[in-house]
Amino acid sequence: MIGFTCIACAATQPADYAGFLCPECGGNLDISYDYDAIINKIEQSGIDRARSIFTYAAFLPVARPTERFPLRIGRTPLYEAKRMGATQGLRNLFLKDDTTNPSSSSKDRASAIAVRRAMDIGADVVAVASTGNAASSLACVAAAVGMPAVVFVPDSAPVAKLAQCLSFGATVLAVRGNYDDAFDLCLAACDEFGWFNRSTGYNPFTREGKKVCAYEIWESLDGRAPDRIVVPTGDGNLLSGMWKGWRDLQAVGLIDKLPKVDCAQSESSAAISNAVHRLRAAEKIDWSAVELTPVRAATIADSIAVDRPRDGLAAVKAVIESGGEAVTVPDDDILAAIPEMSRLSGVFPEPAAAAPWAAVKRMVEERKIESDELVVCLVSGSGLKDTGGALRASAKPTTIDASIDAVREALKR
Ligand SMILES: Cc1ncc(COP(=O)(O)O)c(C=O)c1O
Ligand SMILES: [Zn+2]
Repeated sequence: MIGFTCIACAATQPADYAGFLCPECGGNLDISYDYDAIINKIEQSGIDRARSIFTYAAFLPVARPTERFPLRIGRTPLYEAKRMGATQGLRNLFLKDDTTNPSSSSKDRASAIAVRRAMDIGADVVAVASTGNAASSLACVAAAVGMPAVVFVPDSAPVAKLAQCLSFGATVLAVRGNYDDAFDLCLAACDEFGWFNRSTGYNPFTREGKKVCAYEIWESLDGRAPDRIVVPTGDGNLLSGMWKGWRDLQAVGLIDKLPKVDCAQSESSAAISNAVHRLRAAEKIDWSAVELTPVRAATIADSIAVDRPRDGLAAVKAVIESGGEAVTVPDDDILAAIPEMSRLSGVFPEPAAAAPWAAVKRMVEERKIESDELVVCLVSGSGLKDTGGALRASAKPTTIDASIDAVREALKR
C-alpha cells in the first residue's frame, strides 16, 4: 500500500494519512498499491491457496497479513448453475455463493480487513452503521478476535440479522429512522467516542476486503475472468470492490481481459443506476463534478435499500468503465427470484441476493447477454436472514393429520 487517491478529484495522500475522506474535497478515498512490489512478493512466495482471504496477502493493506485469522473468511464456492441458466438459454451461468461466509453474507471479507486495520492502528472499539448485514458481520468478526463492537441499524432491520448481532455480543443500537439516519448517527458517535468506523463506502478499507471476491472467482475459474458479474447494489461498495479486484489482477499481469460489472438494483432504490443512465448519455464525464441524486428507497430488499449511496461515485465509475449494465427490477421480480433460484440451484438467497438473477432475466429479455457468455451472479446473503421475504414468494405448506390417508389426499390435491 503506497497511499490514497481521491475518487472524485484524484488528489493523493500518503500511506500514513489517518483520515477516511479526501481533505481537498471530502470525496471517498481509494487505496493505491505498488504493483511491482506485489509482483515481486507473488514471485517469491506464490499465492498460497490454502486458507482464507489472507491467502492474497500481497494485495492487502494490513500489517502481518499472513498471520492466521480465527475464522475462515471468504474462499466461498463458485457453482455452475446449469438448470438455472438453461431456463434462459444461458450455457455458462455461475453462482458465487457468499451465503457460506461465517455470518452468511459477502460483508465478512470487508469486516475482516477493517478489523485487522483497527487492530493495526490500535483502535479498541469498532462501530458500523448498517441495514443489517454489515452489522451482523462486524459483530461476528469482532467476536472472533475479542473486540467490542457497536452497531447502528434501522429499527426495522430483519429480526434474524438483529439476532445475529445480539448473539455475537455487540452493543446494538436500533435507530428510529432509516439506514441513512443510522449512518449519520454512527459517524457522529465515532467522532465523539473515538471508535473505528467500519461503515461501508466511508471507510476505504472495506473495498479492499470486498475486492478479494474477484480474486476468488479468478481462482475458481482457473485463472480467467468471466464475461460479466452481476452485483446486487445499494451503497455500491460491493460493486466498486469487485471492479477493483479485477483491475488489481490486470495490474499485476494475471489477467488480460476485464469482465463487465453489472449493477442490479430494485426500481425502488436505484440511485446508482439512475446516475449510470444519465452519465452514459454524456459525451465526456468530469468525475469531480458528478453528484448522485438521492432517492427515497422503499424496496423490500432491505440490504439494498439506500437513499444516498455512500460509495456511489466509485460504483458508477465501475459500471461505466467496465462497460456493464445498470439494471433495475421491480420488487415482485426480486421476490419471485428467491424460490426460483433456490429450486433450480440449491442456493437460498435473501431478497437482495436474488436481485442479480432477476436482473439477468431482464438482460436476456432485452438481448443484452449472449447465450455463451460466462456470467457470474453474486449471491451476497443467505435466505435465512429474511425468511419473511422468502415466504411471501413461496408456496404454502400443506397441513395434514398424521395418517397415510391424509398424505394420499394431499398428494391428490
Ligand atoms: C446481501 C447484500 N447484498 C448486497 C448488498 C449491497 O452492497 P453495497 O451496499 O455495498 O452496494 C448488501 C449490503 O448491505 C448486502 O447485505
Ligand atoms: Zn478529493
